Amino acid sequence: MLKIGPIEMKNQVILAPMAGVCNTAFRLIAKRFGAGLVCAEMVADRGIIHHNQRTLDMLYVDERERPLSLQIFGGSRETLVQAAKYVDKNTNADIIDINMGCPVPKVTKCDAGSRWLLDPDKIYEMVAAVVDAVDKPVTVKMRKGWDDDHIYAVRNAQAVERAGGQAVAVHGRTRVQMYEGVADWDIIRQVKESVGIPVIGNGDVRTPVDAKRMLDETGVDGVMIGRGALGNPWMLYRTVKYLESGVLPPEPTAKEKVDVCRIHFDQLSKLKGEHIASMEMRKHAAWYMKGLSCGNEVRKRINQCETGEELRQVLIDFRETLQPEAAPTV
Ligand SMILES: Cc1cc2nc3c(=O)[nH]c(=O)nc-3n(C[C@H](O)[C@H](O)[C@H](O)COP(=O)(O)O)c2cc1C
Repeated sequence: MLKIGPIEMKNQVILAPMAGVCNTAFRLIAKRFGAGLVCAEMVADRGIIHHNQRTLDMLYVDERERPLSLQIFGGSRETLVQAAKYVDKNTNADIIDINMGCPVPKVTKCDAGSRWLLDPDKIYEMVAAVVDAVDKPVTVKMRKGWDDDHIYAVRNAQAVERAGGQAVAVHGRTRVQMYEGVADWDIIRQVKESVGIPVIGNGDVRTPVDAKRMLDETGVDGVMIGRGALGNPWMLYRTVKYLESGVLPPEPTAKEKVDVCRIHFDQLSKLKGEHIASMEMRKHAAWYMKGLSCGNEVRKRINQCETGEELRQVLIDFRETLQPEAAPTV
């Protein structure tokens, strides 16, 4: 079973950190759908140490979400350590994760995110400084390298281990690839063979069968699922069940999709207020409705909703048009 430091997970299925997605509202859903560990969206170290209210709000963890991993990112050792100390003392997160994978220029140009992948010594220094400063276990999420000429995943993971990091998650793409191409699972296998700490595999796990294949082919300790769970928390539940029993549970029905979309919206409204939730729900609703007949039409109507009341009504009306047994078309 997956164990990170003293924290034991009930299974090997992990919700990936996703900015703008993995707040309490979605994480609670992921938890109800069985995820063994949920990761929060990345939080800027400087926002934490300057006590920016919006940043501090992102540190909220509901007890029901635990075990939870909270990810921070930053460019300087001092700010990263200070932010990690704040998270250590002031939140009920179980794990502090350091982002070494974010490819966006806004982050890499500040020497944060995937920029560090070019320098195993810097990784060692940063992780060791954070590990020394906090009590909670520290982990790292990284990409396989910066570009095809700089694939240092093995050395970087070894640096994390030497520095006292308790686990490493590897996304099998380079920074330059962003989200293009295919994730390289062989490098994940190589990392697993090179370190003693738990390794979590990530990239292109789209179906429960993919998850099993990643575990079998790479020997990793856990599988991390990102885009496959967008509007589709059933992916988490079905993967947990498939890994447990070898039997693939059915896909959700259209009604189930609409119902969970509504629950998601209600939880997002509690967290952010109806107006912001209505805006943010547009992308989630598009993901929930993907593949449903009339899903496109519903998505367009949701994009025009100005209030939470309107949005709920669109979902209620759509639900009434569905046959009891209607299943998604994909
Ligand atoms: C919308 C979105 C937001 C993301 N935000 C983060 C983030 O905050 N921190 C992080 O380490 N990775 C982030 N990622 C990367 C994912 O955690 C994951 O590594 C990547 O999507 C590959 O996994 P997948 O093929 O299962 O989606 C994000 C990905 C997406 C699609």
